[in-house]
Amino acid sequence: MRASYKRLFLFASVLSLLVFSPLSGAEGEAAEMPADTVTDDYSLQGANTCLGCHADQVTAAIFSTKHAQRADDRTPFGDGNTQCEACHGPGGEHIKRLKRGMAAKDRPSMPYWGSASTASTAEHNQQCMTCHQQQVGLHWAGSVHDVEDTNCADCHKLHATHQAVLRPETQAAVCYTCHLEQKANAQKPYAHPIRLGRMACTDCHNPHGSAAEFALVKNTLNDTCYGCHQEKRGPLLWEHAPVAEDCSNCHEPHGTIHAGMLKRTAPLLCQSCHSQAGHPSIPYTASGLAGNPNPSQYLLGGSCMNCHSQVHGSNHPSGANLMR
Ligand code: HEC
Ligand code: HEC
Ligand code: HEC
Ligand code: HEC
Ligand code: HEC
Ligand code: HEC
Ligand code: HEC
Ligand code: HEC
Ligand code: HEC
Ligand code: HEC
Repeated sequence: MRASYKRLFLFASVLSLLVFSPLSGAEGEAAEMPADTVTDDYSLQGANTCLGCHADQVTAAIFSTKHAQRADDRTPFGDGNTQCEACHGPGGEHIKRLKRGMAAKDRPSMPYWGSASTASTAEHNQQCMTCHQQQVGLHWAGSVHDVEDTNCADCHKLHATHQAVLRPETQAAVCYTCHLEQKANAQKPYAHPIRLGRMACTDCHNPHGSAAEFALVKNTLNDTCYGCHQEKRGPLLWEHAPVAEDCSNCHEPHGTIHAGMLKRTAPLLCQSCHSQAGHPSIPYTASGLAGNPNPSQYLLGGSCMNCHSQVHGSNHPSGANLMR
């Protein structure tokens, strides 16, 4: 950003454009800028140059966002900053009069977020990082989204009056454009209340990356859950080993078809780790050997939990078998 360089841009002139001019499309070629409006490839009149052709509602909505706070020197529209070009890069050839015979669609692209921009994702993101390194944080570099070439603008719509991704009620829809499995799970009957807008993906994940696996907001998976389900943390006299180890041994936090958001129902859930020996839960065949005289108590209702109700651990002095 060239701090020495004062803009002629006046906020009032933008407002008048919005209020008084018919809303033209991006094609508004009428206000063709002469070549001498460019210095060091940046436009001389900042946003005024751009708005000469881009006074449409979508583009102009940026003036109702935090980025257009002119009193804040840190914003693109703050004193001495390059306004639209702080994000889109220098206007250069894009803002010049078209050469004879060129069609509007042949207009050279803006360097960043233009239809024909050739910059890489990392170069695009760097435009934002010049101002946002600190907020995005140290974990972005090397995070899955960084490595998978996710663009800041895949999640952040800078020209929107309200950014959907920043609001719990609308955030998930942004994530679902890429995360179809989580979208499907969230619609299942047993799920965290994301569908209702009462929870967001960011209650558990940091989309800019984190020190934890799966970009979770806390150091471990269990710590993430304890954030809201404190009572499961203990300390407990009798721990159930897989609970203290990892809640996702039994739960799928994005939603399932089984009550309690379980990955599968008991007894199968329990028997994925515990042998049936000594605890037969299947009715043995007529020719069967040691059958369970009353298998239904293992299969109906709470199944194993009919007796082992304290599946998350017990504080009862004689709760070693998680029955009280
Ligand atoms: C002389 C008119 C004119 C000026 C001045 C102008 N643009 Fe454009 N701009 C256009 C046209 C026409 C298109 C559509 C080109 C196309 O469809 O390929 C366009 C496209 C764009 C796009 C890509 C939009 C898309 O749909 O892909 C961006 C971003 C953009 N302009 C930003 C700017 C910025 C920022 C400025 C000011 C520095 C600016 N423009 C100045 C005429 C102009
Ligand atoms: C804070 C960064 C930022 C600033 C400032 C900014 N833009 Fe954009 N612009 C973007 C990004 C990112 C996109 C890609 C799509 C999106 O996020 O909505 C974009 C998209 C566009 C488009 C494509 C289509 C559309 O209308 O959504 C045009 C045209 C455009 N910008 C023009 C401008 C003009 C003119 C200005 C100044 C008045 C401006 N931009 C200021 C980041 C910015
Ligand atoms: C010239 C510096 C600058 C550039 C370039 C810039 N921003 Fe910002 N951005 C700011 C400032 C300053 C704020 C306001 C911070 C505040 O109010 O605390 C802001 C706010 C935001 C916010 C929060 C908005 C809200 O409504 O709470 C997001 C998200 C954001 N920027 C993303 C981006 C992205 C993505 C880009 C690149 C397309 C970008 N910014 C480019 C300076 C910049
Ligand atoms: C996968 C989606 C996603 C991507 C990619 C992404 N962000 Fe964000 N960003 C978010 C979400 C969601 C929030 C809100 C976080 C919250 O509420 O805890 C956010 C918040 C922000 C904020 C506001 C932080 C604050 O404290 O107010 C800024 C600034 C920001 N992002 C910049 C960026 C920049 C720059 C990039 C590109 C390097 C980027 N983001 C990439 C999803 C994303
Ligand atoms: C209640 C906490 C929680 C919420 C809310 C949540 N997640 Fe997750 N997410 C997790 C945990 C824990 C994992 C670790 C692996 C697992 O158990 O699936 C994970 C893993 C993931 C993964 C990686 C999956 C893989 O197998 O690599 C993606 C992608 C993901 N979540 C996306 C989302 C999206 C998108 C949302 C919002 C719609 C969301 N998550 C909401 C807790 C949550
Ligand atoms: C433009 C596509 C895109 C969008 C939008 C997007 N993601 Fe992702 N995300 C990916 C890709 C690609 C991966 C890696 C493959 C996978 O795990 O599905 C990923 C991985 C993840 C992971 C696993 C991280 C890890 O370290 O294993 C989480 C968690 C995640 N995304 C959360 C989110 C959240 C929350 C949002 C919305 C705020 C979001 N994503 C939006 C593309 C996207
Ligand atoms: C931001 C708070 C929050 C976090 C973090 C959180 N949960 Fe939840 N959890 C909730 C809320 C809210 C409910 C729904 C309670 C209700 O509907 O009455 C819930 C419900 C549940 C349920 C019961 C579902 C049912 O159908 O009865 C399970 C199981 C669960 N969470 C597991 C987890 C796991 C595992 C994690 C960590 C990966 C986790 N939660 C992280 C808030 C949270
Ligand atoms: C060994 C399997 C298993 C593990 C591991 C496990 N749970 Fe559960 N969880 C269950 C079962 C089974 C139910 C259903 C209980 C019922 O139906 O009575 C349940 C129910 C829940 C519920 C809803 C009812 C209640 O008790 O509040 C929450 C919340 C919950 N678990 C959170 C967690 C958290 C947090 C962790 C990790 C600390 C965790 N669970 C680890 C098996 C497990
Ligand atoms: C991911 C594997 C796993 C799952 C699933 C699992 N358990 Fe366990 N369970 C263990 C381990 C490991 C121990 C500790 C065994 C030991 O210390 O010898 C244990 C111990 C127990 C104990 C005895 C307490 C003790 O320390 O000996 C009971 C009772 C029990 N589990 C019941 C259940 C029930 C009921 C379910 C289904 C809701 C279940 N378990 C699901 C791994 C699992
Ligand atoms: C009718 C009540 C009842 C039901 C239902 C039940 N158990 Fe048990 N379980 C017990 C009793 C009583 C003990 C203690 C046995 C002992 O100390 O010899 C026990 C002990 C255990 C132990 C501790 C290790 C051992 O063998 O001593 C495990 C593990 C266990 N049960 C798992 C399960 C699983 C998995 C299910 C579901 C398939 C289940 N139980 C269903 C009553 C029940």
